[in-house]
Amino acid sequence: PELSRIVGLSDFDWAARRYLNISAYTYYRNGAAGEWSYRNNLEVFHRFRFRPRVMVDITNIESTLPTTLLGHNFSAPFFISPCARGGLAHPEAERGLVRGAAAENILYMPALFATLSIEDIAAAKTEDQVVFQQVYLDSNDTATQLLFDRIERSGAKAIIFTVDSAADGNRHRAARFGVGSADSSYSLITWDIYKQLQNMTSLPIIIKGIMSVEDARGAVAAGAPAIILSNHGGRQLDSSPSSLEVALEIHEEAPEIFTQTEVYADGGVRYGADVLKLLALGVRAVGLGRPFMFANAYGAEGVQRAIQLLKREIAIDAGNLGVADLKAINSSFVKWTPNLWL
Ligand code: FNR
Repeated sequence: PELSRIVGLSDFDWAARRYLNISAYTYYRNGAAGEWSYRNNLEVFHRFRFRPRVMVDITNIESTLPTTLLGHNFSAPFFISPCARGGLAHPEAERGLVRGAAAENILYMPALFATLSIEDIAAAKTEDQVVFQQVYLDSNDTATQLLFDRIERSGAKAIIFTVDSAADGNRHRAARFGVGSADSSYSLITWDIYKQLQNMTSLPIIIKGIMSVEDARGAVAAGAPAIILSNHGGRQLDSSPSSLEVALEIHEEAPEIFTQTEVYADGGVRYGADVLKLLALGVRAVGLGRPFMFANAYGAEGVQRAIQLLKREIAIDAGNLGVADLKAINSSFVKWTPNLWL
């Protein structure tokens, strides 16, 4: 369909399912094993209710969307999560993502296993555009140092170290199309090694893939300037918790973590309301993976439209929730109803 007929982020999934070739669509769409975590990431938001306030002056809500992430200014509290193989959706590959993000001034996190190289993605940035580069690491210090040096030269402003993939994802759907990874690999990275990594670069190293309050505490203790609550879009360990469940665990057991480090979250976010629920618990910014990969089937324009649609939904949902200033949203605006099985 024409881009103007796409009215919400879920429509991009529908369009991609019809128009991408089946193995490319399947690679993006896939979750691990029975895809329980993939579905739970989407469905968990339904079990989390709002507590709206009425008769609030919300006329300035749009102007309160901008935020800072590690000191950099962005126009909204959401970002493009790192996803491999952008070239499966569009010949311009990650250029669509980096340009769409630039047009709307939101944060893009290029994946190490992008179709384009770190340098080619950097070349597509606008002059003052900020990106955070995602990496996977093993225990080979020489290779890590070379990679970190490359990333610094590319102009990225932070490194995202993904830690939720100690072993390969068990992805049946993609394996049927030969687009899963064939051989098993196991990483040996531990918290001790994380501390040494920070000596190898002047860039802040963000930890992506935190799934428990224990590991959130571990990341704070190791000095992480930011963490991303994530189960990798349900692609790694099936039955791993959604980031909303992890945010709730932190909110209940160690709420101070939300002020000790910047806490971001991703997985299953499709609507403005989803973003608001995470922000209400103390999350600073929310990432989306698949919606942007599918939007990129339309290239940069599609990515830009996805960003505009989500900004609008955040503003109108915050307005109906009775939030005058997005920065002032807090847990009194949400209610967890775990017994409500829908
Ligand atoms: C990912 N994700 C991911 N994460 C990462 O750290 N490095 C990577 O290379 C990839 N690759 C990747 C490919 C594809 C096709 C998808 C869908 C996802 C995970 C990604 O960063 C993010 O955590 C999830 O996509 C968030 O879930 P949603 O928004 O896709 O539901």
